[in-house]
Amino acid sequence: MTQEELQALQSEAIAQVEQATTIQAVQGVRVTYLGKKGKVTSLLKGLGKLPKEERPAAGAKINEVRVAVEKVLQDKQTALEEAALAAKLQEEQIDITLPGRKAPQGHIHPLTKVNELIQDFFMKMGYTVEEGPEIETDYFNFECLNLPKEHPARDMQDSFYITDNILLRTHTSPVQARTLQKHEPNSPVRMIAPGKVYRWDYDATHSPVFHQVEGLIVDKDITFADLKGTLELFLRHIFGEETKLRFRTSYFPFTEPSAEVDISCVMCGGEGCRVCSHTGWLEILGCGMVHPNVLKLNGYDPDKVQGFAFGMGVERIAMLLYGIGDLRLFFEDDVRFLQQF
Ligand code: FA5
Ligand code: MG
Repeated sequence: MTQEELQALQSEAIAQVEQATTIQAVQGVRVTYLGKKGKVTSLLKGLGKLPKEERPAAGAKINEVRVAVEKVLQDKQTALEEAALAAKLQEEQIDITLPGRKAPQGHIHPLTKVNELIQDFFMKMGYTVEEGPEIETDYFNFECLNLPKEHPARDMQDSFYITDNILLRTHTSPVQARTLQKHEPNSPVRMIAPGKVYRWDYDATHSPVFHQVEGLIVDKDITFADLKGTLELFLRHIFGEETKLRFRTSYFPFTEPSAEVDISCVMCGGEGCRVCSHTGWLEILGCGMVHPNVLKLNGYDPDKVQGFAFGMGVERIAMLLYGIGDLRLFFEDDVRFLQQF
C-alpha cells in the first residue's frame, strides 16, 4: 500500500469518527479499522508477506495510522461520555433552594414543665432539692412520720406493699424524715422533694402513679402564718393573682394543725362538675405544722424548733393550669394530646 493510500485510509477513518454521534457508532468505527478483522489490523497482519527489508518501514507507517486513529477514537469517546454525563446531571439536577423536610421535634412533657415551674419557684426562695427512694421502708413511709403500725390513718393511702416492711412510697413525706435525720439535730432545714409516688387509686383525678412535691421548713419560731404566706405566694405565682384558694381544716398524723388547700375548679369555674365532685373546688395539696412527734422521732427537739410541711399533687396543678378534665391523659402518651402543650 502506498503512502497516499495509507493517508487516505487514515482520513477516511477520522472522517467516520467525526461523524459518529453515539458511543455505539464510535465502537463501530473502532471495529471497522482497529478490530481483529479491521482494515488497519489487516494491513499489519499482511506485513509478513513483504520482503524482510521493507517490513520495518512499512510497519512503522501503518502503526502511525493505527495510533492516529486510536487517538481520535479515544478523544471522541471521551467527549461523548462527558456530554452524556453532563446531560444526565442536568436532567437529575437537585433544586437546593427547596426547603428541606423538617424532622419532627418533640418537647417537654407537660408534667415535667409543671414540675420545673414548681422547683424554680422554691429554689429561688432558697429551698434545697432532696431525693428519696421510690421503694421505701414502712419505717420511713409511715413510722417516723408518727404513723405507727395499726394506726387507722394508714388507710388514708391505699398502699402497694412488696413485703410487710417494704412498699412503693405513697407520698414524698418520707423524704422529710430522711432529710431531718441527715442533718445535725435542730439545725435549720428548708427543702423540697419532688418525685413519683404510688397508690391504689384510679379515676379522673387519681392515678396509681403520680407526682408530688414535698416541702419542709424547720427553724426557730416558724408559725402557721409562714406556711400560709408561703403557699399563697406560691399558688398566686403559678395560677395568677386572682386565684381563689381556700385552706380547709384536715388531718394528717405528721402535722398539727393540718389543712388541705383547694383551688376553685377550672373545669366548671366553681359551679360544680364531675372533676370537682360537684363541690366547685379541687384539692391540690396537704399541709400543716410539723407534728412535735415527727421532730422527736427524727432527732429534733420540738421545744427548740418548729416547722411547716406541705405535699402537693403535680398532676392536679397541671390539670388546673391547662384545664384538663382527666389526669390519666398525662400518662397515655397520645401525641395528639401531648402536642397541645
Ligand atoms: C399527702 O400525701 C401528704 N403526705 C401531704 C402532706 C405533706 C400533708 C406534708 C402535710 C404535710 P394527700 O394524700 O392528701 O396528702 O395527697 C397530697 C396531694 O396529692 C393531694 O392533695 C392531691 O393533689 C395529690 N393526690 C393524692 N392522690 C392522688 C392520686 N391518686 N393521683 C393524683 N394526685 C393525687
Ligand atoms: Mg388529701
